[in-house]
Amino acid sequence: MNRLFKIYTVIAVVLAFSINSCTTGKSGSNMAESSYDSKIDSLMSLMTLEEKIGQTVMYSGGWDKTGPTVSANNKKYIREGSVGAMLNVFSAKGTRDLQKIAVEETRLGIPLLFGYDVIHGHRTIFPINLGLAASWDLEEIENGSRIAAEEASAEGIHWTFAPMVDIARDPRWGRISEGAGEDVYLCSEIAKAYVKGFQGDDLSANNTILACAKHFVGYGAGQAGRDYHTVNMGENELRNTYLPPFKAAVDAGAETFMTAFNELNGVPASGNKFLYRQILRDEWKFKGFVVSDYTAIFEMVQHGFATDNKDAARLAINAGTDMDMMGEVNRMYLKELIEEGKVKKETVEEACRKILEAKFKLGLFDDPYRYSDEAREKETIYKKEFLEAARKSAASSLVLLKNDKKALPLTKNKTIALIGPLAKDEENIIGNWAAAGDRRGRAVSIFEGLQEYVSKTNILYAQGCDIESDDESRFKEAVAIAKKADVIVMVMGEDYDMSGEAASRTNIKLPGNQTEFIRTIADAVPNKQLILVLMNGRPLDLSEENLLADAILEAWFPGTMGGLGIADVLFGAYNPSGKLPVTFPRNIGQIPIYYNMKNTGRPIPPDNPKEDYKSNYIDVANTPLYPFGYGLSYTNFEYKDFKISSKEITKTDKLIANVTISNTGNYDGYEVVQLYVHDKVGSITRPVKELKGFQKVFLKKGEHKRIRFTLTAGDLKFYGYDMKFKAEPGVFEIAIAGSSDFDFKESFTLKND
Ligand code: BGC
Repeated sequence: MNRLFKIYTVIAVVLAFSINSCTTGKSGSNMAESSYDSKIDSLMSLMTLEEKIGQTVMYSGGWDKTGPTVSANNKKYIREGSVGAMLNVFSAKGTRDLQKIAVEETRLGIPLLFGYDVIHGHRTIFPINLGLAASWDLEEIENGSRIAAEEASAEGIHWTFAPMVDIARDPRWGRISEGAGEDVYLCSEIAKAYVKGFQGDDLSANNTILACAKHFVGYGAGQAGRDYHTVNMGENELRNTYLPPFKAAVDAGAETFMTAFNELNGVPASGNKFLYRQILRDEWKFKGFVVSDYTAIFEMVQHGFATDNKDAARLAINAGTDMDMMGEVNRMYLKELIEEGKVKKETVEEACRKILEAKFKLGLFDDPYRYSDEAREKETIYKKEFLEAARKSAASSLVLLKNDKKALPLTKNKTIALIGPLAKDEENIIGNWAAAGDRRGRAVSIFEGLQEYVSKTNILYAQGCDIESDDESRFKEAVAIAKKADVIVMVMGEDYDMSGEAASRTNIKLPGNQTEFIRTIADAVPNKQLILVLMNGRPLDLSEENLLADAILEAWFPGTMGGLGIADVLFGAYNPSGKLPVTFPRNIGQIPIYYNMKNTGRPIPPDNPKEDYKSNYIDVANTPLYPFGYGLSYTNFEYKDFKISSKEITKTDKLIANVTISNTGNYDGYEVVQLYVHDKVGSITRPVKELKGFQKVFLKKGEHKRIRFTLTAGDLKFYGYDMKFKAEPGVFEIAIAGSSDFDFKESFTLKND
């Protein structure tokens, strides 16, 4: 047999395994045993140990604006069958070319898996994830990730490294922008929406991609808000706060998990058996595979946990990290480690099996090029309906923080002074982690967006200052146009690179001289309304801006259609409905600050918050500037007639909580109605408030609706001191409100039986 004939014989055998597989790639298969076992067994019986190890190795292609670039070494390793997956390669052609090497030039022709960070859109960029969370709109989030999957899959991507479901309570941390904020319940619901959107309900369809819940776990709790930093927390906090969004992702069928860079209680995540073997696999029955974060495996050497790279490889695979992203320690050391008896052959085989299974589920053995179709790519990316969805999402992610004297919405016939470093920007507006989104030529700036409502001649523009500098030379020009206009819109904020990975800040005020600039304008034209539109990837300290501006609209980084979404809100075509998914502190010294803190033994008396020897500050209030769940609307919503169905429930009963919401203002609009409880006494102390449900309801002006929530003992469960997950009998306070800032007035008792 000549070599070519041999290769094609093997490919034929492999393809034969996959017959029928395309109809059985249902998502959510974490629940069921694999239906691919016999195909995988047959394939693995042909594989050498090196080839099995190869499946656990992921390399990066790297890419530039015009297309993917892949180093010669990567290609060499792919040809040898030593690579199972690639990251940072996209486009139908780029992925097809590499796939061709894997399929046609390796001994067994096993297709590669292409992974990429499709975080808040692929080409059509949606608001950053913190902004998406501010919409509290699960349907919209699911739809946005469905669109991202459509676009990414059309560009050859099989797998997204998303969602990031890390709870984040420290605005200094740059990656707070990438998650859903501070709350366990909200983050968990949003985690499910992302997974469903990316994976759809049939992974064998060519427009669905694998999701990856990351970073397991505790990454958001790094000390001092520094990226990659040490995390220490009790198992109790881990289980009650940081694990639930990951569990939600497993329940929604997430096929893959990513390790975290941080250590947790002294053990780096990538080598943490307790996390991957005990919790993820034994307790949660997760059946997918775990990829390390970037070079996280060999970073265990720097952590002081592994003696060298080889030791790191041993620790990671034994702990349950199946795939090595970038680090190549698996390729270099796993064989030796097996020969030395430090890693069992079966451990590597188990990892290989799970990775192959993902490839079968995606239908790659049926057609390895099914995601790499140039015609489909062309007709899919930036589709009109995707852009429309992104515009709607941009509008619904905005949070109106302040609106004195009804400064907003704007009326169309006025002259606007449009000022600030982000007013004409189309580079920052799509935010960090913007996948393959174009930073030039695609995104709609605010300047352009406004032109849908007012003529260009009615917009007087001056940049005035930079995002970060102390140059005041252009303040004057801005003051001059502010004097000429009827209303002032200042667009200020952070550079997109000031949040995201490795972008922690110790100062969370507006950068450079922006605050000074706002003060200059406010002082120069005190009688004109000053609207502040903010783009930023984290909660900022806005204490001074809150005094200077008449209205503040938090726009995060709103994505490709951001300028239009913002214009829709400024002119009232979309009534703002966003609510904060994270607390905005008064100043950095209050961090960590989140709504569901504990009470302490010396809580402050509400009527005397400054009382001595209470848990307060001597210089600033305990309360945040803007609380979790908060956000204004152009209309008013009144909450009345709150009722619960019973004052007592058993562990099998349902409690119904009802409230009437009336839209008493002049605009139709959405309200995010929030259900909170407080478990008054527990075997471990409980947070002062916990979100347990929410509904986003639309009410026409003058309309009212009775809103109903159902609560069961299951919703009241938590991990106690004994690490058992249960609801404890006792008194619970309960309320329905439009933000986390309210006082409980009603309670019920959970009885013992
Ligand atoms: C990040 C991950 C990301 C990976 C691949 C890492 O630095 O922490 O979230 O998925 O890079 O780009």
